[in-house]
Amino acid sequence: MRRMVRETAVSVDDLVYPLFVRAGEKLKKPVASMTGCFHLSADLIADEAEEIARLGIPAVLLFGLPEKKDEKGSEAWSETGAVQEAIRRIKKRVPDLLVITDVCLCEYTSTGHCGVIENGRVANDATCELLAKMALSHAQAGADIVAPSDMMDGRIGAIREALECNGFADVAIMSYAAKFASAFYGPFRDAAESAPAFGDRKGYQMDPANGREAMREIALDIEEGADIVMVKPALSFLDIIHAARERFDCPLAAYHVSGEYMMIHAAAEKGLLDGQAAMMEVLTSIKRAGADIIITYFAKSAAPLLH
Ligand code: PBG
Repeated sequence: MRRMVRETAVSVDDLVYPLFVRAGEKLKKPVASMTGCFHLSADLIADEAEEIARLGIPAVLLFGLPEKKDEKGSEAWSETGAVQEAIRRIKKRVPDLLVITDVCLCEYTSTGHCGVIENGRVANDATCELLAKMALSHAQAGADIVAPSDMMDGRIGAIREALECNGFADVAIMSYAAKFASAFYGPFRDAAESAPAFGDRKGYQMDPANGREAMREIALDIEEGADIVMVKPALSFLDIIHAARERFDCPLAAYHVSGEYMMIHAAAEKGLLDGQAAMMEVLTSIKRAGADIIITYFAKSAAPLLH
């Protein structure tokens, strides 16, 4: 009876699995801060992609760890960068697996900030130009969707223009439209080696206290050409997901982030709760709030349990 009257069903079709691609060869190293996650070199990524596709998961989201960092983050748009190489390899081996790429400079800059620094501050407009170059290089390598997570103002417009002007009108943009300055990114920053060297990200990421501002940020990104909009993190922002679902008609993604993922692992390891049941409850709540797409490190564990 419960099965018959259930209102919300998470499907494997909703899931996106994040992957960390690291410069180098034959590298598969567990990420210390994130249970079950690995740093993989581009040559090993196709095997992983095949397994993900076999589980029925429709998409991966690629994050890059470069060989070298510099002030501008120039490896971010290198044709031979780890992410660009990974895209080509995945598309060759598993063409039907959707490849989404994270577009942000924080893994590539020596400062660990999501943009270039001028006079001690992140320079918004100069950063947008670099992000557009980065997104274009991902499109050229074969990415299906680019996903800017930097939170600069105007970057969606800049990326959309760069894609259109260079023959990549079909590449979609999934915008991290309402991304909050959150403590729940902690494990990820270790995994991606992207913690800011000074200051914090509050100058560009949103204040968790602001719900109306989130609606404004989402509306702006849709106007600038975003195809899919995202709310991030998911759990402390279920009200924002719900409000965005009510107000906007485009596909809505939610990012169940590293800290949310590791809270469940840590509690389960301590024997405080049933990890698998907590995982399903959380994923269901994100769907019930209104997300069409759930980006989660749980995707591979959840997939076999879903229809
Ligand atoms: C890059 C980026 C971050 C995450 C995704 N893209 C970290 C940050 O903004 O500091 C976090 C993802 C997670 O915690 O799982 N800007």
